[in-house]
Amino acid sequence: MSEKAKDAEVTIPAQAQDEGGATLTKDAAPGDVLLKVTGLQKHFPIRKGLLQRQVGAVRAVDGLDFEVRSGETLGVVGESGCGKSTMGRLITRLLEPTAGKVEFQGKDITHLGVGGMRPMRRDVQMIFQDPYSSLNPRHTVGTIISAPFKLQGVTPEGGVKKEVQRLLSVVGLNPEHYNRYPHEFSGGQRQRIGIARALALNPKLVVADEPVSALDVSIQAQVVNLLDDLQQELGLTYVIIAHDLSVVRHVSDRIAVMYLGKIVELADRDSLYKAPMHPYTKALMSAVPIPDPKRRNVKSERILLKGDVPSPIAPPSGCRFHTRCWKATEICKTTEPPLVELKPGQQVACHHPENFEDQAPQDTVLLSVAKEAAALVADEVLAESAETSAAVAAELETTEETPEPAAETTTEPAEEAAPEEAAPEEAAPEEAAPEEAAAEEASETVAVDESDSSEESGSDSKK
Ligand SMILES: Nc1ncnc2c1ncn2[C@@H]1O[C@H](COP(=O)(O)OP(=O)(O)OP(=O)(O)O)[C@@H](O)[C@H]1O
Ligand code: SF4
Ligand SMILES: [Mg+2]
Repeated sequence: MSEKAKDAEVTIPAQAQDEGGATLTKDAAPGDVLLKVTGLQKHFPIRKGLLQRQVGAVRAVDGLDFEVRSGETLGVVGESGCGKSTMGRLITRLLEPTAGKVEFQGKDITHLGVGGMRPMRRDVQMIFQDPYSSLNPRHTVGTIISAPFKLQGVTPEGGVKKEVQRLLSVVGLNPEHYNRYPHEFSGGQRQRIGIARALALNPKLVVADEPVSALDVSIQAQVVNLLDDLQQELGLTYVIIAHDLSVVRHVSDRIAVMYLGKIVELADRDSLYKAPMHPYTKALMSAVPIPDPKRRNVKSERILLKGDVPSPIAPPSGCRFHTRCWKATEICKTTEPPLVELKPGQQVACHHPENFEDQAPQDTVLLSVAKEAAALVADEVLAESAETSAAVAAELETTEETPEPAAETTTEPAEEAAPEEAAPEEAAPEEAAPEEAAAEEASETVAVDESDSSEESGSDSKK
C-alpha cells in the first residue's frame, strides 16, 4: 500500500444519486459471481462493393464462457489479435455482442439500452492501454477526472473539485495538479490519471486493457502495485488484460489464456504456472522442453511459437492451434476440443493436454507442418523474456517494501513529460484516438458501438 494512498484514506464516499433516482446494484459478497459470460461472440462484418454486402466476418471473439467473482483478479493473456481488447469492450458493453450473454450481478446486460446501462455504467469501468491516446490533450486533468460525474449527473460529497483532488491523491498524484494538461505528465502518471477517472464513480468491476504495456518496466511495477493496493482498499474486482504472462502472474487469482477468439485454458494462477495443460499456455510460458522423446535430453531446447496468430477471418478447422502445435494429430484438425474442467479449477480445451494422466504421447502423431511451426530456440533468446519477467518481479518486490514517492516528487522532473510531446493546442480534438472516445463512453452512457454490427446477426456472420 503506498504512503500516498494511505494518506488519502482510500475510501470513496457514496455518490449522490442522479435526479432520475437510478439505483445502483447491491454489493456482491466476496466470491460471489459478479460477471458471467456465456457463449460471447463478436464477429466484425467485412463488407465489399457498392451495396456493401457482407462477404465475411472477423471472428474476433468466438464463444467465450467464463465468470468473474467479486474481489478477484482475472488475468487474460494471449498474443496480439486474439481478441482480448474486443472481449474487454464487450463485457464493459462498449461493443454490442454478435451473440451470447453478459450478466452482471445476475442481471442480463447483453442488450441493455442507454437508459438501462446508465446505473450499470458506474459499476463497470475500463482502463485503457495507451495513456497517451486515452486522455484528451485539450482537457485539464480536473476536467478529465470529473467527466464521469458530469456525464452521470452525480454530485460527489464535498463537491467535484474536492473529489477530483482526493482521487488524484488516491492514485499517488499531487492534488494541486488538477489544472495541468496531460502532456505535462509522464506515461506512468497519465496512466494514474486514467485509473483515477475509472475510479471516480466507485465501480465494482474494472477492466484494465493492457494497463502497463506502454510503460517502462520500473513504472509498470508502480502501476501494478497501485492497482493491487486499490483492489485491497476498495474491494475492486479486476479483469486485467495483458499479452505476456509476466504482468498478470503477480496480480491475478485466475488466468484465462486466449487464442484466436477463444479461451483455451482457464485456471487458478498457481495451477497454471505449476502445471499448464494447454500446449499454447506452455508455449506462452516460453520455457518448455519439447516433449519429443528424441530431444528430451537436450536441456537447452525450448518452444517458441513462430509466426503470427492465423487470421480470425478464416480460423483453422478443429483446434485453432493445430497449425502451430507440436502435438497436433488428425483429430485436432477435424474436431474442436471443448473447454472442459480436467482438474479442479482448471479448464482446458485440448485433445492431448499436458500434465494429465489421459495424455497418450504414443498416440501423438506430429503433423509435419505443426512440427515445423514450433521452433527450437537457444537459451539466450529465452533469457531475454525471462529477464523482463524477473525485472517486473524484482520491481514489484522492491516497490512493495519501499513507499511510493510522494506526490510532489512523482510529478516533478523524474517523470516529466518529454519535451517533444505535442502541446494540447497542437492536437486537434477530432484526432483523438478511439480509446479517448471510448474512455468517455465508459464513463457515461451506454455508447454501444453499433456502427459495425447494425446489420449483422450471430447466425449470419457464422460460416
Ligand atoms: N472494429 C473492428 N473491425 C474489424 N475488425 C476488428 C475491429 N476491432 C478488432 N478487430 C479485429 O479483431 C481481432 C481481435 O482484435 P483485438 O484488438 O481484440 O485483439 P487483441 O488481442 O486485443 O490484440 P492486441 O494484443 O494487439 O491489443 C483482430 O484481428 C482485429 O483486427
Ligand atoms: S494437441 Fe491438438 S487439441 Fe491440443 S492444442 Fe495441440 S492441436 Fe490443439
Ligand atoms: Mg488489445
